[in-house]
Amino acid sequence: MKVISVVGARPNFMKIAPFIKAIDEYNSNGNTKKIDHILVHTGQHYDDRMSNAFFEALNIPKADINLGVGSGTHAEQVGYTMIEFEKVLEKEKPDWVVVVGDVNATLACSVTAKKLNIKVCHIEAGLRSGDMTMPEEINRLVTDRLSDLLLIPDRISGENLKKEGIPDEKIAFVGNIMIDTLETNRSKAEELSINQILQENSLCPFNFKLLPLQSYALLTLHRPSNVDRKEILQPIINFLSNEVARDMYLIWPIHPRAQKRLKEFSLWEELGANEKVILLYPVGYHEMLKLNMEARIILTDSGGLQEESCVLGTPCLTLRWNTERPVTLRENGGASVLVGNNVERIRKEYQDTLKLSRHPQRPELWDGKTAERCVEAIVKYKG
Ligand code: UD1
Repeated sequence: MKVISVVGARPNFMKIAPFIKAIDEYNSNGNTKKIDHILVHTGQHYDDRMSNAFFEALNIPKADINLGVGSGTHAEQVGYTMIEFEKVLEKEKPDWVVVVGDVNATLACSVTAKKLNIKVCHIEAGLRSGDMTMPEEINRLVTDRLSDLLLIPDRISGENLKKEGIPDEKIAFVGNIMIDTLETNRSKAEELSINQILQENSLCPFNFKLLPLQSYALLTLHRPSNVDRKEILQPIINFLSNEVARDMYLIWPIHPRAQKRLKEFSLWEELGANEKVILLYPVGYHEMLKLNMEARIILTDSGGLQEESCVLGTPCLTLRWNTERPVTLRENGGASVLVGNNVERIRKEYQDTLKLSRHPQRPELWDGKTAERCVEAIVKYKG
């Protein structure tokens, strides 16, 4: 059986690493029908820190094919990916295309495969935010509608798919594959030193005498809805800089999009001048895991961090009005609460959240063995 799996952007890498390892294990376990696997990187994320660093840290083999798509508008990214991926599929003629998550590569490659009548498997199917202004929601909807095999991380996602009329036999509950990566890498992350992470990844020179840190908030912010408009971004930055960074250090590994906007909106200098704000380049997988493990609170608009914070128990403010990952919310036993991007709401939840302690929670089948179940579901598929 020939399988092509696809990655494009940073959040895909921690999902594909355990999948590839599980294929290798399947092949070395004496199974007669071997899986011939090809890894395609669309090239959407191309900076060393956004891509290569993750391949190295997570022992992902170098992609067999890189489509070199790069940055661009959504139509450009999806369009170029489809044109280049079609050539790969024509040449390789795989039995399956496996896509993960909800980035532009997920959409582009599932559409291309389906148009060539190739079976599509979606890992992390069924997530729904209900927010059609999110590019990822469109990617999820289209990919799930086209997929032959939908591998879901939680039962809520299964309910979402059933409501959309996806038949039961196409759905398999496998758990959250990203947690496989977390469990594999937990002990390595634990060994890292926070001070060393800060020194090695600092974007602005900061006063090392301030170290060691007693307690810190960890921030990530990159969604267009939060960073692309000055009237939204500026009040958030003011709150972070004047209030959060008054209580404790604020550590912010910055996504390239956010950095670009901060400079455009003339917010960069002021932020850099605040000695309690520690701006970092995008950090590696283990470094982020360690920062999350030790943070007093995390503020984020990332999807993956909501899940990692849930398992690590880090009190989390999700800077969004909705989430496609409700299983991570406090009302469902998780660590996060939705705070949107309105400063009054963020402030109130921030103050309440500081009273909470770390409370790890492990949703059903987030057990580190999801990748094996993914491979098994593909091998046993009878369509
Ligand atoms: C993408 C995903 C998003 C995910 C995020 C994580 C989609 C629709 N979105 O958004 O779901 O949460 O990745 O990182 O696929 N850039 C660089 N270097 C890079 C990559 C990007 O400088 O290696 C800059 C470019 O200026 C680019 C901008 O970042 O225009 C945004 O990158 P893009 O790939 O378009 O989307 P993300 O915001 O990263």
